[in-house]
Amino acid sequence: MTLVYEGKAKRVFNTEDNNIYRIEYKDEVTAGNGAKKDKMEGKGRLNNLITSYFFERLAQEGVDSHFIERISDTEQRVKKVTIIPLEVVVRNFAAGSIVKRLGFENGQAFEKPLVEFYYKEDALNDPFISDDHVKLLGLANDEDIAELKRQALIVNETLIKIMDEMNLKLIDFKIEFGKDSEGKILLADEISPDTCRIWDKETNENFDKDVYRNDTGSLIETYTKFYNKLEAL
Ligand code: C5P
Repeated sequence: MTLVYEGKAKRVFNTEDNNIYRIEYKDEVTAGNGAKKDKMEGKGRLNNLITSYFFERLAQEGVDSHFIERISDTEQRVKKVTIIPLEVVVRNFAAGSIVKRLGFENGQAFEKPLVEFYYKEDALNDPFISDDHVKLLGLANDEDIAELKRQALIVNETLIKIMDEMNLKLIDFKIEFGKDSEGKILLADEISPDTCRIWDKETNENFDKDVYRNDTGSLIETYTKFYNKLEAL
């Protein structure tokens, strides 16, 4: 099967079916737009299992995504979409770049979820952009922007509910969307501890990639702990 695209954490392949891709989750972890990079055995499996779980739960809540099924420990079959080069970030609490940029206190709760757009362009370091920039760059029109925000907020509500069941809080996350052959906007990519910040409700312990970004613990142990909690639901 031909390789369509290789990203930092996944490979995308064509299949015999023109409408379907096969995605393979890699054992690679990067941070800071590839500035830090490591191979970690078992990481692809964990992110595949976790993402598959989230996409299945989201489907039950009425959020369609590109996900069709998990076909192995490290692979999924997904609907073919054209990715919109936007990282849609939702924040419930201040952490990461918003703390550095705007001076919020780490862990400060926001009154309502904040939705942000970042232009997915490695050469520019994925800059934060406004709705007007999104339109100027021709990435989405007003109607699409409203739909991206609407879906992002439903994803947020569903993820908060799942985290709550695990006694965890969802600090923030990043999602990506694509358009199918009919132009319908579909949630795509992955939802995993690579793309979310997740803290223990009582201790604020991290269950996400910040342990790797900040060198504060073992990524595989952290993701395994998170997956075990998810599996126990
Ligand atoms: O770095 P920042 O605080 O803006 O990240 C917000 C959220 O988006 C975090 O959960 C982070 O893991 C996620 N993110 C991501 N991929 C990026 C940038 C951020 O998954 N390229």
